Amino acid sequence: MKHIVVLSGAGVSAESGLKTFRDADGLWEGHDVMEVATPEGFAKNPELVLNFYNERRKQLLEVKPNSAHYDLAALEKDYKVTIITQNVDDLHERAGSTNVIHLHGELLKARPVNSNNIILWNTDMKLGDVDEKGRQIRPHIVWFGEAVPMIDLAVDVCKTADILIIIGTSMQVYPAAGLKDYVKKGTPIFYIDPNPADIHDKHVKTIKEKASSGMKTVIKDLTS
Ligand code: APR
Repeated sequence: MKHIVVLSGAGVSAESGLKTFRDADGLWEGHDVMEVATPEGFAKNPELVLNFYNERRKQLLEVKPNSAHYDLAALEKDYKVTIITQNVDDLHERAGSTNVIHLHGELLKARPVNSNNIILWNTDMKLGDVDEKGRQIRPHIVWFGEAVPMIDLAVDVCKTADILIIIGTSMQVYPAAGLKDYVKKGTPIFYIDPNPADIHDKHVKTIKEKASSGMKTVIKDLTS
């Protein structure tokens, strides 16, 4: 069975109603990402950060996967599929994808500060929510400047790709953006984005469409 690797970003969830990062001139839901997605921001104003993710968590529970998520999940009928996502939402899983690697963490998980003891968390989080050792609980999100624990696994996965689908990412944040360079030379690449970045690789088919329609084009190619 051929192995399809998918690299997804915020654009795949845009049609579900979740905002992307760079389409709103660097603001994430009205906030400077440096204020709400860095350890320094959390140290400076933990309540702002905790409330920001409380809002994101509430919003996630109100939105649904879109047809791009479902089409990606349906590929599992005919292919081995690994989804490597920069998204912290659970829309790939809710659409039925069974093998999802979250490079930048997950909104519905949490951990104590300075610990990797990950727990499920789907309600509001506030200062004073601590673990049994009295450590403040924080969102299980990889903030700017923090290590990306899943990157080595993601690199190994990309090396085994027979087909790569890049969908809804501006390819601006490393190390995620560098993953495409680990696929074997000559691997067919589909890049779906209405406003695509330049990818200098002759094996890339750039599909200048939104995720939902772009995935229909990919499926047509795969089945032709
Ligand atoms: N369908 C497909 N792609 C879309 C759509 C859509 N409907 N709408 C927008 N896009 C594209 C944009 O053109 C852009 O290229 O999605 C991409 C979103 O890019 P970013 O906002 O930079 O999001 P992403 O690439 O996921 O950011 C990576 O940066 O802020 C950090 O940790 C955060 O995981 C995030 C990382």
